[in-house]
Amino acid sequence: MVFFYGVMKMTKDSVLSILLTAGECVSGESMSRELGISRAAVNAAVQTLRQEGYVISSSTRTGYTLASSPDKLRDGEMAARLGGRAEKVVCLDSVGSTNDYLKLLAKDGAPEGTVVAANTQTAGRGRMGRSFLSPENEGVYLSILLRPDCAPESVPQLTAWVAVAMRRALESSCGVSPGIKWVNDLVLGGRKLGGILTEMAAEGESGHIEYIVAGIGINVGQTAFPEELSAMATSLYLETGKHFSRCALACAMIRELDALTAAFPLEKAAYLEDYRAACVTLGREVTFPAGGQTRSARAEGIDEDFGLSVRFADGHAETLRSGEVSVRGLYGYV
Ligand code: BTN
Repeated sequence: MVFFYGVMKMTKDSVLSILLTAGECVSGESMSRELGISRAAVNAAVQTLRQEGYVISSSTRTGYTLASSPDKLRDGEMAARLGGRAEKVVCLDSVGSTNDYLKLLAKDGAPEGTVVAANTQTAGRGRMGRSFLSPENEGVYLSILLRPDCAPESVPQLTAWVAVAMRRALESSCGVSPGIKWVNDLVLGGRKLGGILTEMAAEGESGHIEYIVAGIGINVGQTAFPEELSAMATSLYLETGKHFSRCALACAMIRELDALTAAFPLEKAAYLEDYRAACVTLGREVTFPAGGQTRSARAEGIDEDFGLSVRFADGHAETLRSGEVSVRGLYGYV
């Protein structure tokens, strides 16, 4: 049964990928030839896709045409957009957390670049032990596996690189340029558009990095947020009034993450320059916990290692390397 379901899913996704790639009418016969399956199996896949919301017209003379697709992340859509790269992308309808799922694959030896994406997460996780709300078909929830040959101390930096990569993906795919709230929140209209959770496994004695999982959540289609989040969270739809394809955005994110993987750590200067230009924390008053107190300072700059340089009222300066700051003027903090 599981095997049959798997074969059916693969067939559906292959048919979908062919229809999407063609962008025009494709005959049942050519699909059956290309996939090495019967015409009846092609027809069954088309029927199932229709039940899932794909509008596919058919004519006995010419074949099948895909008229419209529901906005779903799925293997066939990824394959049509990413070609061979999609072989290392796993699309799930629902999962606890894409980070947790990918960590299991990483322990099983999955290669660098493996991506897990989901249409919803039932236990999406954020930084500092928080949860990340992941409603069905409204955001992009995606994790990528990295196996960089670098020291564990470089990992906080990598998170900042991912923020730059995600900003670039949003610019190319949606035409919006979010700000970055130090360290790694994406910000639009003074509210949080998305976040990044980077997790690492290192060998006990040598400290050598076994793998890093970078998970990104971006709010795309939400029309509202629960009351407790409404002052601090936003979505692409709420900020622009436009509907964006989650699949197109997910693919742009994967392309930028691949570019990051190739660039890390040598092309630091370019990522640092973009980070500094996008960082909306700079020039503002920030508060953060330190030594059991809440301290206030002014954010002045981003240093060479993506640390946040702050200056206190008495003129004393410090650089924060990790943690989180509240920023006056963002997320409803006045
Ligand atoms: C944060 O803003 O605190 C980080 C949010 C990270 C959310 C993403 S969604 C995909 C991946 N899976 C998770 O469980 N978390 C990350």
